[in-house]
Amino acid sequence: MREKRLYINTIGCQMNVYDAGQIAGVLAPLGYTPTDDIEAADMVVVNTCTIREKAEQKAFSFLGRLTKIKAAKPALIVAMGGCVAQQEGEAVLKRMPYVDLVFGTHAIFRLPEMVRRIEASRCRIVDVRMTEAIEIDRPVDGPLDEGQVSAFVTIMRGCDNYCTYCVVPHVRGREASRHPDRILEEIRMRVDQGIREVTLLGQNVNSYGNKEGLCSFAELLEWVNGVEGLGRIRFTTSHPKDLSDELIQAFGRLDKLCHHIHLPVQSGDDDILKRMNRRYSRSVYLDKLARLRQVCPDIAVTSDFIVGFPGETERQFQRTLELIETVRYDGLFAFMYSDRPNAPAAKFSGKVPESVKKERLQALLDLQQSITREKHEAMVGQVRKVLVEGPSRGLGESAGGNGNPDIRWNGRASSNHIIHFSTADAHCPKKEILTGEFADIMIEGAYAHSLWGRRVQG
Ligand code: 5AD
Ligand code: SF4
Repeated sequence: MREKRLYINTIGCQMNVYDAGQIAGVLAPLGYTPTDDIEAADMVVVNTCTIREKAEQKAFSFLGRLTKIKAAKPALIVAMGGCVAQQEGEAVLKRMPYVDLVFGTHAIFRLPEMVRRIEASRCRIVDVRMTEAIEIDRPVDGPLDEGQVSAFVTIMRGCDNYCTYCVVPHVRGREASRHPDRILEEIRMRVDQGIREVTLLGQNVNSYGNKEGLCSFAELLEWVNGVEGLGRIRFTTSHPKDLSDELIQAFGRLDKLCHHIHLPVQSGDDDILKRMNRRYSRSVYLDKLARLRQVCPDIAVTSDFIVGFPGETERQFQRTLELIETVRYDGLFAFMYSDRPNAPAAKFSGKVPESVKKERLQALLDLQQSITREKHEAMVGQVRKVLVEGPSRGLGESAGGNGNPDIRWNGRASSNHIIHFSTADAHCPKKEILTGEFADIMIEGAYAHSLWGRRVQG
């Protein structure tokens, strides 16, 4: 079989990063191996995202650039997958005559068959069929990057929550969970390949298994915790309304579960939360967080925010800022609201002008930056265990700031903070650290966006 090159451009969330690995994995038996060189590719896949307007534009502008490459190399197979593909379907073929294949979010396992047909007869195919349950579920031996120590593992797909701003339920379909045996099989396979940390993925992991009556998410975590050779477990995302006491207790009980939770709140105002259909109030959110911090006092908390949701007043936005000051997040992602096709909020009145959204976004980010800086400074002098992810490349501000050429590594703390560090220490034998090892780092410097330190043992 002739070796063929596959170039994948992934836009958007961690789910898409995982899917890209699956795509590479299912196409490997057809002779495709991944390449970073688009000019050398026999097939280009763009794995798209439609969660916000910007992500969608990115996909179309990348596809636009492919016209030239395809004109120079007509045999190139151009495929579009992911959420935009699911949303647009047939329309993509009409709009972009150089696209050969449009495959939706439920079609990855049907890819080999479709690609074979295109190779044989140069036909054009659209497959955006969706199914209620996960029909084919087998762990795919997708390629790992060199030195990769952490991997994503999807435990469920879709979402049943219908937040009014969100397109996900429309493009990823109804919630469906994978069987725990398949999940554990995949994790063991990854551990055998050298992975030390897994991040379990789902739009709302806390409702894992409910529909199918499989097991609870906390039970699944317990089993994953028992996988020999695995060092750490992370998960994302947890919907605050479904954050159960059982899961809260898991943070106190499971030794491999990282002390970090990503708990998107979106807004600090009850009226906005209601119109977003989030189904929790500010006080319920704060209560759950207080219980988490009781069980796991050093837990790091991060969140997502939307500014400028339709009808959001200045006072309501201030409530969001107050919430951020109350919680003192370790980090956050904030987005300006954008209308999405099929999402009910697109029809809501009281649209906030772009200029106001921009101002609010900036105010929110400024506030968080000062909190992050204070929290980082408070970490100086502490020792944190990191999983070494590899050599530090661009150190940015810390390189200029500390001028220490020994700082050559970076690792991730349980709290999800990245720490750059050196191994030079008189009290510690100077052994070269290998990527994938755990090391104790004394934090010596803190900046707004980075931390650096020195290995003290491990
Ligand atoms: N506009 C802006 N942000 C959005 N998000 C989801 N939909 C929208 C939208 N229409 C954000 C939410 C979510 C994150 C993944 O993306 O904050 O948690
Ligand atoms: Fe979208 Fe809400 Fe589902 Fe998250 S929980 S994917 S924001 S509908």
